[in-house]
Amino acid sequence: MTVSEQRHVTLTVNGDRRDAVVEPRTLLVHMIRDGLGLHGTNTGCDTSSCGACTVLLDGESVKSCTVLAVQAEGAEVTTIEGLAADGELHPVQKAFRENHALQCGFCTPGMVMAAVSLLRETPRPSGEQVRAALEGNICRCTGYHNIVQAVVAAGEASAPR
Ligand code: FES
Ligand code: FES
Repeated sequence: MTVSEQRHVTLTVNGDRRDAVVEPRTLLVHMIRDGLGLHGTNTGCDTSSCGACTVLLDGESVKSCTVLAVQAEGAEVTTIEGLAADGELHPVQKAFRENHALQCGFCTPGMVMAAVSLLRETPRPSGEQVRAALEGNICRCTGYHNIVQAVVAAGEASAPR
């Protein structure tokens, strides 16, 4: 890669300002994993099918394999590493643990990030709403039932009554 082909990207990741040098074709997921060393965000397909790479970009959930790193210039990115605060799991992470909503865990970061985004828009979703919102996230292990149960429980636990 020649110097002229490199791009400098500055963004905020999990509250910290980060810089990276990338190629114009570098995908956001690859910058997150390889450039920034945050390996909680997974790549399951690279074809925008599985949702394992889901992160929040300026508060909206996106499949980070569908976004170029240079498109995130100046943006705020939240990855799974940015959810826990002061040693406490995020309520969605707690709900996944309490409801046995994972097996191998490969899909889990993407599922959790998609669920966090859903709960911001729909604080107390029904099971049907959860299934619709997570339809772009594939799990090979769980059969989905406990994942849906966890997201509904997270909404019930944290939403104002
Ligand atoms: S790796 Fe992005 S959707 Fe599968
Ligand atoms: S828990 Fe294994 S892919 Fe979802």
